[in-house]
Amino acid sequence: MSTHGLRFFGTWALASLGAVAACDDGSSGRRPAAEGVGSADDDGGDAGDDAPAVDDDGGDGEGGSSEEEALSAEDIRYYLGKLAPTIAGRSLNYDENALIDAGGEEALVAILDGWMNEPGFADSVRFMISDMLHASGQRDGVDFELPGNLAAEIAAEDLPWSMILTADYCVAGDGSHIDCDTGAPYEAGVLATRAYLIANKGRFNLTRAKRWLETFACRKYPMEPEIQIPLEKAVLIPMFQAESAEEQTVEEAKGGFGNGAACYTCHAQFGAHAQLFVKFDADGLWVEAADGLQDPAGELGRSLNNLYTSHMNDPAEARLESSQVFGAPVENLRDAADVITASPLFQQCTVKNLIGRSFGVASGATEEIEAEIVAEVAQRVTANDPDPTIRAYMMELFTDRRIIETVLATRGGE
Ligand code: HEC
Repeated sequence: MSTHGLRFFGTWALASLGAVAACDDGSSGRRPAAEGVGSADDDGGDAGDDAPAVDDDGGDGEGGSSEEEALSAEDIRYYLGKLAPTIAGRSLNYDENALIDAGGEEALVAILDGWMNEPGFADSVRFMISDMLHASGQRDGVDFELPGNLAAEIAAEDLPWSMILTADYCVAGDGSHIDCDTGAPYEAGVLATRAYLIANKGRFNLTRAKRWLETFACRKYPMEPEIQIPLEKAVLIPMFQAESAEEQTVEEAKGGFGNGAACYTCHAQFGAHAQLFVKFDADGLWVEAADGLQDPAGELGRSLNNLYTSHMNDPAEARLESSQVFGAPVENLRDAADVITASPLFQQCTVKNLIGRSFGVASGATEEIEAEIVAEVAQRVTANDPDPTIRAYMMELFTDRRIIETVLATRGGE
């Protein structure tokens, strides 16, 4: 296991240095394309299973303290200086600097806590969500701020972070609770908003599925089959049954759309997630009559009436929103949100994204950040509360000694 630790320090430290140079364009949320490493991202879930045995010193800190030297005021100033823009939306102020001079390491928790009581904190969390979901502003009468508004409220009011996907309301610009704007008979946090659905629309509803998987579960297709059980071949339309170019029966699909000929490998999982969006049209409106069938005259993946095609071969199934997520049967997107947020993947992905965004490292479905530390921190946060606030996630993460040391290790490079 110790080699994991080395890899963590090596990988992340290097990535941080690279990001410092690349950060000037303000694109810290930019992620490299996730393509091309389909089989390499499979250790996150395993690390989650191992985590309880690996480290159980949550809170006492005694075991390690003999090796740990106290951090100096300069260390803490450097570390908090890195974090201030992401959490508080500003740099360290006079009072905080004084507190650091007086207290060194003791100042850490007080300053972190103080930041999360400031209005800038809600704005930071708003920005994180708007940026990750590619949704902000107003356009064509659609309020693309709805996801960000919800995120800001959850942060400001210390609500469980899972509500980002499960809230049964939307939040207007003035902070009032409103119905969301899709017309669906349910709400599902940021997912059932026209902002999310329009910003991530596309053939077969693939982008809508891919975006939540990468953003909230830090996975991409294909992922571990024991997490997302592949749909049976016969369930899929013929195009997605193919495991090789020879098996492909659809002329247009022989090229593989850049992802290879083994369509079934990815789309047997993709199809289950895309199905949740089958009743949302290109404008993000919920259409009860949507049937998920291919428009015979349209491009592959497009259904009639501005809708998108299902992966399901049976017309009776193609029209249903019910599906299977992470091994659990779900009725619709709202139901899926409960399953997603109860999964350790969601908790780990929250930690991973916070690391990535705070220190300029690519997160989502990347391997830049060591899965083991992510799993350990997630484990500790949820040990206190199975449904933690974003404040609790941040407090646990940003007081973690290895996180602090990894950040301090980048200091020489600037
Ligand atoms: C390695 C996983 C993988 C494999 C293998 C794969 N796909 Fe995909 N497919 C994806 C991903 C990821 C996307 C992109 C979704 C997005 O970002 O919108 C995609 C997108 C598509 C799209 C939509 C393209 C567009 O421009 O909107 C079609 C159609 C498609 N795949 C069909 C196929 C077919 C047919 C095969 C086999 C010949 C195949 N895919 C193989 C993962 C895969």
